[in-house]
This record gives sequence, C-alpha cells and structure tokens, in this order.
Amino acid sequence: MRRNDEMKLGLLLAQAGAHEGAWRAPGVPANGGVDIDHYAHLTALAEGAAFHFVFLADSPCISERDYLQIARVGRNDGFEPITLLSALSSKTQNIGLVGTATTTYHQPYHLARMFASLDHLSRGRAAWNIVISEVKFEAPNFGDDELADHDARFARAREFVEVVQGLWDSWEDDAFIRDKQSGIFADPTKLHLLDHRGNHFSVRGPLNIARPPQGYPVLVQAGASDDGMQFGAEVGEVVFTAAPFLENAKRYYATLKEKARGLGREDDQVIVMPGIVPIVGRTKQEASEKLQRLQSDTHIDVEIGLAEHLLGFDVRLMDLDSLVPETLPQTNFIQSTQKLILDLAVRERFTWRQLFRWVSDSKGQLMVVGTPDEIANVMVDGFDQRAADGFNVMPAAVPGGLKDFVDLVIPELRRRGKFRSRYAGQTLRENLCLKRPLNRFELAGVSTRR
Ligand SMILES: Cc1cc2nc3c(=O)[nH]c(=O)nc-3n(C[C@H](O)[C@H](O)[C@H](O)COP(=O)(O)O)c2cc1C
Repeated sequence: MRRNDEMKLGLLLAQAGAHEGAWRAPGVPANGGVDIDHYAHLTALAEGAAFHFVFLADSPCISERDYLQIARVGRNDGFEPITLLSALSSKTQNIGLVGTATTTYHQPYHLARMFASLDHLSRGRAAWNIVISEVKFEAPNFGDDELADHDARFARAREFVEVVQGLWDSWEDDAFIRDKQSGIFADPTKLHLLDHRGNHFSVRGPLNIARPPQGYPVLVQAGASDDGMQFGAEVGEVVFTAAPFLENAKRYYATLKEKARGLGREDDQVIVMPGIVPIVGRTKQEASEKLQRLQSDTHIDVEIGLAEHLLGFDVRLMDLDSLVPETLPQTNFIQSTQKLILDLAVRERFTWRQLFRWVSDSKGQLMVVGTPDEIANVMVDGFDQRAADGFNVMPAAVPGGLKDFVDLVIPELRRRGKFRSRYAGQTLRENLCLKRPLNRFELAGVSTRR
C-alpha cells in the first residue's frame, strides 16, 4: 500500500474563523466576508506555508430562521465561492482552490463550465466540493417547499457528477489547434457530444471551453452516512470528515478506504482529511484563555442556532440544564453530523447547554487547545495511526489563529518530517499526488463526434 509520507493540509477559509464568536474578536475584520483583501491575506499566509489548498464551504441560504439568532450570527454576509476563488486565482500561484457547490440546486452544464473556467483561470488548481444541500432553507430559494429526501439527493448527485465529467471530456486535450495559418481553430474529430439522457438530466453538450488543465478539477466530498460514504468512495479524491476523536477518524478512514478499494480504486487516490480546530498558545493556559475569550463573545442564541442546524431539528425549547437524550428524531439534513454530535453528548454526559457550547467551539470537529507541540503531536498521531492523510485546518479566529498555526505549529510538523516547505508541482493534482484522469471518449476509442 503506497502512501506519501507527508501530510496534506487545507485551510478552511471562514470569514472570521471557525468559532461562532470570532467576528467580535480583536484583530478580526468584522466585514471580512465581503472583503477581498482579507481573503487574499489569509490565502497568502496559507500559500507562504505551502498549504495544499484553501477551501470555501457554502450553502445558498442563511441557516437561521429566528431573528434573535440572525441578529447575532456573523457569517450571513459572504462571497459566493466560485466567484471569490476566481478572484483569488489571480492573486496566487500555487495553492489549490476548493469551492463548494450543491448538486441539488444547480444544473450540471453550469457547474461543469464554471469549474472548467476556474481550472483554466488558476492553471490547474481548482477543486469542487460536491454537496447535496444540507440546510432546509435552501429549498424555498429554488422553488421547493422542502429538501428532497437524503437518498434522492444522493441519486441526483451521482448522475450530476457523471454528466459533469462527461462534459469536461467534450474536447480531447489537444482538440484546439488555433492555427492562424490554416484558419483551423479546432479539430472536430476530437470533439465528443455527451448526449446524456438520464433520470434527472438530459444534456447534449459539448462544453464551450477546452478540457480543464487537470483533466477534471479535483473532486472533493464529505458525506459520512452510509449513502454519503458510498458516494465518497465512488467519486471523492479528497474526502473531508468531522471526527472529534481519533477513534471516530480511524473507523471512518478504514471504512472509506475499504469501500474505495472494493470499487477498484487505489488507496492513495482517496485522501481523507478530517477537520481540526487548533487553538494555539505558547502555554496551555494561554490557549485556554483564547478559547474562553471567544466563548464569552458568543451569545447562547447563536450557539443554539448552530446546534439546530447541525442536529437538524428545533432545539430552542430544550431545558438547558437537562441531559441530552440518547436518541433524537432522524434528520433529513446531515444525518452523519447528528449522529456524531449525539454520540459525543451521550459519551460526555453533556447537558444541552454544554452541547451547544461544544458545537459552537468546535463545529463538531476535532478541537485541540494547547501548545504547538501538543497540536503537532495530535496531528502526527492521527496521520501515523491512519486516521488521516492530512487535515483541513479550521482556525478559530482569523487572521490571528492562522498566523499562530503557520508560525508555531507548521515548524513543529516540519521538524517531525511530516510537512513540506514548498510546492512540488504546478497543479493541485500534482501537489496532492492524484492522477490526471484520461478522457473517457479517447479511452473508449471513440474517434468521431455524433
Ligand atoms: C467537513 C465538512 C464540510 C462540509 N461542508 C459542506 C458545505 O460547505 N455545504 C454543504 O451543503 N454541505 C457540507 N457538508 C455536508 C456534506 O457534504 C454532505 O452533503 C452531508 O454531510 C450529507 O451527507 P451525510 O448525511 O452522508 O453526511 C460538509 C460536511 C463535512 C463533514
């Protein structure tokens, strides 16, 4: 089993940071969500440290319905990911650009075109985080009353990805000759019409842009329910996961790799990256004080709003000081996250108040509050024990928390021989050691268009 000995690192570009109270912290720009200079600064810090990519999460809606929550939540004012990544592509040279887009409320032609454009703009650094929509307030923005069922959304996602990949293969890599002398711009024998007719989509093609420099932008996925993991094993080249404990992560890692192997995929072509919220202090005490400051800036209504979103049902009327029960109504939203949070609450014997605080602090991810040495040890341990091929770093507040990570934790990782100092390749695929996909039509020997 081959495995590059070096961990992969991504940076979650959250406008103020992963912590719900971050937007109020000193040094965090309160208008960061719509400030390109803020994002450019964060991305430059990550690129300077040789992070593999920056990642933008997204839902096309706001997640709260309660005006008390809406008044205090600091993340409902931010850029659409592909637009922002396109701007960042011109300010960066090497770092990968991972954008989230839902298969539930887009059409494949649009997304195939946008991600192909981002891949060309960035000279091969684009990636698509494929999601199926997780927030109920997305539905009414697109003419629906409710989100379709979880399995129906995954069925649409499968077909969606198949169509997008087919569209990216519309043109063989060398189809555009652009020969001024002869006047021939494109070789039509290297053009392929998709002519897809399926349960959800009818798409003729071809795409009106050359095949992306990476063949396909890197495909990222983050499902963790049975359906979600199956989909991740089928299409995910990078798979994000939330795992607050090492044993969750190890179980997820082993199961996902086994499923992928069962589908004929190679282990090192499926990169598992749990999230980590590092709160770095020169001493443990300093790190704890940083967390306490963020907590004191977070109103209970905000904590409840986030918990409601992640648990997928209304928790506003819970008795804050009663214990969280072992079971809750099943959600149609993020099933895996609900289970993960509930398991943790039962294991830790959390009251609702404690649970709300924990969710707001960690977002359900692994959170490490400590010295650079302690944080690096947890990461290296996770990597060595095959709980992770790398981590999606989610600083609690930015830019300060990112700067702490870059200045203090990255050197520790390098000292342990687990993280690089420079980029090895030009494209994101090269930097992640992922293979460039061949054109399906070329592979099948289909030499003429229809
Ligand atoms: C780390 C992580 C990041 C995610 N980011 C997003 C996101 O930005 N937008 C979104 O709609 N879903 C996001 N999701 C949700 C998943 O992509 C997936 O659609 C969801 O988990 C439903 O599948 P599941 O029930 O199998 O987990 C994320 C999940 C994880 C674990």
